[in-house]
Amino acid sequence: HELAMSVEEIEKRGYPHFMLKEIFEQPRAISDCLRGRLNLEDDTIHLGGIADQIDKLVDADRLIIAACGTSWHAGLVAEYLFEHLAKLPVEVEYASEFRYREALIDEDDVMLVISQSGETADTLAALRTAQERGALSLGVCNVVGSTIARDTDAGVYTHAGPEIGVASTKAFTTQVSVLVMMAILLGQKRGTIDQEYAKKLIHELNEIPGKVEEILEHSDSIKDMAKLFSYAPNFLYLGRTYNFPAALEGALKLKEISYIHAEGYPAAEMKHGPIALIDEMMPVVVVAATDHTNDKMISNIEEVKAREGRIISITGEENEEVINLSEFSCPIPETEDCLSPLLTAIPLQLLSYYIAVNRGCNVDQPRNLAKSVTVE
Ligand code: G6P
Repeated sequence: HELAMSVEEIEKRGYPHFMLKEIFEQPRAISDCLRGRLNLEDDTIHLGGIADQIDKLVDADRLIIAACGTSWHAGLVAEYLFEHLAKLPVEVEYASEFRYREALIDEDDVMLVISQSGETADTLAALRTAQERGALSLGVCNVVGSTIARDTDAGVYTHAGPEIGVASTKAFTTQVSVLVMMAILLGQKRGTIDQEYAKKLIHELNEIPGKVEEILEHSDSIKDMAKLFSYAPNFLYLGRTYNFPAALEGALKLKEISYIHAEGYPAAEMKHGPIALIDEMMPVVVVAATDHTNDKMISNIEEVKAREGRIISITGEENEEVINLSEFSCPIPETEDCLSPLLTAIPLQLLSYYIAVNRGCNVDQPRNLAKSVTVE
């Protein structure tokens, strides 16, 4: 037993928890994920795992994505990515629902399953349903040789390395990295992405590990801020476009490890319900990429402030208007809108981590949760 403990200590490499170690590993994990796949000389992307099947994906009528939990959030980011860059219709399904629906899927569709472990029972069942109906199946997995990785027709590994903390961190950012590469590649093949824009995205993607590193260098300010919000029984997370899934993921992280009730919403939906909850006790985390919805986000912030809600914003460092309206802000380096979830995810992970630590929670093994859910 003592030996087992010391092995665990060694594996944590001086970090108090696996989750914090894994958050800080993200620059390296994302670099590993991108390595050999981004070609900065001729502005192309090489994904060997799906090279043989790419033509079927190019010709597909529709992409259906099935996943659970954090992987489902990565799937939602992918919906925006594939529509935007590859002009491919996408549906994102909770695997658990898809498997029991009369899903209309056939050989003209492609099923993409996303799973860190590659063993989630519902995701595996959704995969089987799609396969029975003749769809090509692709996987985005982290665990090499896992069931989903083996049983899909083709796939792309995230190369994040082992993720031990139950709350997923580096698996998410590497999943999104893979999905960005797939969407650019498909956009190039389908002729739906301007080559100059593709080049810009490929070069910017290559900068992401460095930008994640910059955010991590400021983790102490998030740690300090977390002290002020650890009291809260409820949190609301708002985002638009690419950062709506980021808001959902931020809320999930907080729920999972700190047991605080948190909800993620598309910012505009706030007026259809959650606004009734806002008072001076309610922290509202606004995830605001500086895109064409920025003015709308500013109106949402003003609506929250008018009801004395406390605004924490995660936004680009040049987005002064949002920063000035916030009680607290975690500025992040500027990037392309479609890459921003790769950066906004980091302060969201840190915020939930530090709040959970302040509340004395078991960060790496939260109550009632499992790393991999292999039963229904
Ligand atoms: C469990 C884990 C989550 C994970 C989800 C899907 O609920 O606690 O962190 O996102 O399963 O897991 P998968 O391995 O399929 O990505």
